Amino acid sequence: MLAKREHLKNLPILYKKLIKESGIEESKIDRIAVTQGPGLEPALWTGIVFARELSVKLSIPLLPMNHMEGHIVASLIPDTSLGKEFKILKTIDFPAIALLISGGHTEIVKIKAIGEYEIIGQTRDDAVGEAFDKVARMLELPYPGGPEISKLAEDARKDNIKIKKDSNSEIRLPRPMIHSKDLNFSFSGLKTAVLYLLKKLGNDLENNISLKQRRAVALEFEEAVTEVLVSKITLALELHEAKALIIGGGVVANIHIRKTFEKLALDHSIPLYLPSSGLSGDNALMIALAGSKATIKPSDEGFNAKGNLSL
Ligand code: KG4
Ligand code: ZN
Repeated sequence: MLAKREHLKNLPILYKKLIKESGIEESKIDRIAVTQGPGLEPALWTGIVFARELSVKLSIPLLPMNHMEGHIVASLIPDTSLGKEFKILKTIDFPAIALLISGGHTEIVKIKAIGEYEIIGQTRDDAVGEAFDKVARMLELPYPGGPEISKLAEDARKDNIKIKKDSNSEIRLPRPMIHSKDLNFSFSGLKTAVLYLLKKLGNDLENNISLKQRRAVALEFEEAVTEVLVSKITLALELHEAKALIIGGGVVANIHIRKTFEKLALDHSIPLYLPSSGLSGDNALMIALAGSKATIKPSDEGFNAKGNLSL
């Protein structure tokens, strides 16, 4: 409800600012794309009502978009288009495999064409971003936790902290489902393992975990997540003879994950598409561009918000 109230307040202000600063004439807008889901329904609904009123006022079509398609499209926006012409997406070969990692989702999607998606793997419980956020909270770091964990882990790398790869190591976390022969994930056990690890370290030191240990935990957590993602994507690329790899969603801002997938793409000689900086987190450009590629269907009139909309 708090998010809904903020949307109600901010959308008209944002729209006025957009029209003023972009110099776009309202009469030149030919369609409006709005997120239908997935997400928090009251907040989605506020966006839909606002967009619908605007589409009626301007007598133009309104298109319901999927937030996760937006994340796929965000990875295909050429750097040069920022601030200039937004209509063109990078052309890629199909089938492509997309790994979508955000606060609410962890999905592997097979893409036969833009608009033709099949989910071939997903998390059974927590999303990757959610796991980052929860582990950050355990380390008493602010929200969103992903960038905070990433900073700690990068500091650990600079300090050359190394975690021994045997299970007797003081700081060693599991890689859930890494050897399962499917493309699904599970991150809630990893999160619980961090909780127990922190308790154990805290007890040993009378609740006084050193900064070095915090960095080591962040490093080990980030590496555990990345290794699982890499193993599943390697399997997906092989099983589906993919010709392109797309990674999208807020977690792609993570430096270690980006670098690891850049290396994987080189090793597999597969073109990799990542969102440019500023476009990995939620943004309106990805929804506008997904809308610019979509077909207008008369049946789309009068749609509702769908909190659990799937690709
Ligand atoms: O796609 P997004 O902006 O929102 C959703 O659709 O959920 O993703 C947000 C998620 C949050 O969980 C946040 O902690 C995570 O992305 N995130 C990161 C980093 N930056 C944002 N996770 C790991 N490392 C980062 N640098
Ligand atoms: Zn998102």
